[in-house]
Amino acid sequence: MGILIHALYTDTKDILPQNHLTSTHSLSRKPINMTHSSASFDLPQLERLFNEKFGEQIDNSPVSFHAPGRVNLIGEHTDYTGGMVFPCAIDRGTLLLIRRNNTNQFRFASTNFDFSTELPAAEISKAQGDSWVNYPLGVIDQFKKRGINLDGLDCLYSGNVPNGAGLSSSASIEVVTAFAINELFNASLDNIELVKISQAAENEFVGMQCGIMDQFAVAMGKQNHALMLNCQTLHYRHVPLNLDDHAIVLINTNQRRELNESAYNDRVAECQRALTIVQQRVDVNSLGELRMEDFETTEDLFTDDPLAYRRARHVCSENTRVTAAVDALENNDLNAFGAMMKQSHQSLRDDFEVSSKPLDTLVDLASKHPGVLGARLTGAGFGGCTVNLMHQDALATFENAVANDYQQATGLTADFYIIKPSDGVGEMTS
Ligand code: GLA
Repeated sequence: MGILIHALYTDTKDILPQNHLTSTHSLSRKPINMTHSSASFDLPQLERLFNEKFGEQIDNSPVSFHAPGRVNLIGEHTDYTGGMVFPCAIDRGTLLLIRRNNTNQFRFASTNFDFSTELPAAEISKAQGDSWVNYPLGVIDQFKKRGINLDGLDCLYSGNVPNGAGLSSSASIEVVTAFAINELFNASLDNIELVKISQAAENEFVGMQCGIMDQFAVAMGKQNHALMLNCQTLHYRHVPLNLDDHAIVLINTNQRRELNESAYNDRVAECQRALTIVQQRVDVNSLGELRMEDFETTEDLFTDDPLAYRRARHVCSENTRVTAAVDALENNDLNAFGAMMKQSHQSLRDDFEVSSKPLDTLVDLASKHPGVLGARLTGAGFGGCTVNLMHQDALATFENAVANDYQQATGLTADFYIIKPSDGVGEMTS
């Protein structure tokens, strides 16, 4: 295990030895390890831990479910405007061991956080400060709102998505919880409804006005595919990621991204403002529907709100890029796909203003490296990760060169991961 992988689990507490949670997909400094094997969890060890925490019941063993994290390849800050996105699920995620306890008590523990809690049914609709348990609580609250009342649960979570890295660790907790509850209580909801439950949990319980992309990708991902999704209609299709001798590499800035909720919610409000202005002239229901040529005719309406103009320009141009990038991919033109990634980053930096110095530094350094086709920030921004499309031959020199220059420029240490497009949520079979 390389030094880098340890940095992932700084939140992981003493419960499991760290190497139980590791995947071989991280680039280790020396030598570069290109072997892929599925990210592994030690299920027997987690079952022992579950029994220690909640008590063993011979005829009521926990069931295990897994939901991945996600990386967005292109289509950023478009989902909540009804636009296009192109994410894929990744080979890191959240494992949940869960059982019904029929006692009306809700018990939550995690191998990643110290905080665990036991709540009676009467208290599960109240948020617990800013704790991670608000994600499962928000999901349970949504089931209640749909008239599905739960009679008590024991839940143990274990994750290997780095927290705060923009890889949707929170969506993976929400979706795995929703999927598991649906199974255990025979609620017969389909996956799209579980996606909506998970998004609503985040919107209403956590207070983050996120769009639907993360939960959708986490629930609906498919191995070796990315997912092209229209966030207005929820029409989607899986697109094969034929990368040949190329790799998708994530670089974590390790700039703590306290999912800057207020800045994110500001962007949502600014896009809403832009839509109202555009609607004075163009007949659209969302910015996602707006074509660039129609948008350009509205510039004069934005004289008093140039900021809203730039936000909308990003959304329009990004939507165009998603379609062009997916076309390029399907025509095996990875260079054109990479060019779209670079333009996306510039637009997020200049028009949408969600980048940061560490993100820009990583994108600039990666873009200079031979063999890198495209690099951009991924996720909400304000820190977190960049996603890079590169030739595998370049991997050997890439990490050291970028890591060293990045450290010099920012004083931060970056982590590198090669990721593999993976399946969405499901029950674990051992
Ligand atoms: C976060 C949100 C998503 C999406 C991205 C930006 O990940 O949860 O809904 O808006 O930011 O594309």
